[in-house]
Amino acid sequence: MIRKAALFALIISLILVMVSFAAEDVRIGLVTPLTGDVATFGESTRNAAQMWVDETNAKGGLLGGKVVLFVEDDRNIPAETANAVSKLISQNKVITVVGSVASKCTLAGAPIAQSSKVPMITPTSTNVTVTQVGDYIFRACFIDPFQGTVMARYAYQNLKAKTAAMLYDIGNDYTKGLAENFKKSFEQLGGKVVASETYGVGESDFSAQLTNIRTAKPDVLFLPDYYNSVGLQARQARQLGITATFLGGDGWDSSELVPIAGTAIEGGMFSNHYAPGSSDPIAQAFYTNYIKRYGSAPDALAALAYDAFIIVGNAVTKAGKLDKTAIRDAIATTKDLHAVSGVLTFDANRNPIKGAVILEVKGGKFVYRDTVNP
Ligand code: PHE
Repeated sequence: MIRKAALFALIISLILVMVSFAAEDVRIGLVTPLTGDVATFGESTRNAAQMWVDETNAKGGLLGGKVVLFVEDDRNIPAETANAVSKLISQNKVITVVGSVASKCTLAGAPIAQSSKVPMITPTSTNVTVTQVGDYIFRACFIDPFQGTVMARYAYQNLKAKTAAMLYDIGNDYTKGLAENFKKSFEQLGGKVVASETYGVGESDFSAQLTNIRTAKPDVLFLPDYYNSVGLQARQARQLGITATFLGGDGWDSSELVPIAGTAIEGGMFSNHYAPGSSDPIAQAFYTNYIKRYGSAPDALAALAYDAFIIVGNAVTKAGKLDKTAIRDAIATTKDLHAVSGVLTFDANRNPIKGAVILEVKGGKFVYRDTVNP
């Protein structure tokens, strides 16, 4: 009888020990536009995130715990991003939020993460003000003052353009900021912006603005919006007889750009974060595994989402505990971290220092042209 009781007590205490040692789940949130006007951005982001989570769990997770991903669709609408971030933090109890894609959305969600002291890292939001929201806000991409300079220099020095026109969305932080950065650099170099036309969110007829641009006869036309708008703008510009070379930024990166624009976008060039073909083993594994899993090549959004998760995973391991402040501190001190889009080190403003690639639309494909380092 006594023996039985002792055995029973032993079993109970063993179970208790096991439970107390079973590591906690690592809950990570992702907010991205899975539907709406830029749905390919959300799809690429989610694909890469899910791939990283599965790979990490197959290797034993983080700190012995399983990684659990909570995904929210913000439809590329800032108010939805704010709701999603609140939900991920208060209901899903995530230790970090990855997202969103568009700067205007991340800018709406970041104040909530900041005031809740939950680290947030956007894979792709390039507007300079995003990480200025506070010390819990990070990004995995370069910023628009750099991207604007890259394209201005390319236009002036490589393409020998002397005049440029711009057409941009006045209500979009990314588009507006990138246009301003391009103008500043292009004029500093000695070029002249001969026409600057704007429109509002959701507009799809650009003929009035493009007619003014045609009169100004620019060498290049800078179109710093997302693929859906750029596709229409390129078509309408060529229909009006504009012959300028089209230039743009990372917002062009979508498998939908060419289907929307048709041949009008041929010869167009844009700055981007990633081009396949790196000899780095991490980049190579990412590229092959992504194709194997999803049947198409990864774009910059996929690469940067994967990198944002590499940064978070590395920080959790370095922090050694699921403590949000410790994870924040570990992200901030990320140094020489090998990721898909390069070797990452954060500067004092929580932005990684990294280069850009320039791609050209040729035969309906994105062809690598150049790399520009800061
Ligand atoms: N940089 C864009 C923004 O800040 C988002 C984006 C990044 C879109 C990369 C496409 C590719 O809004």
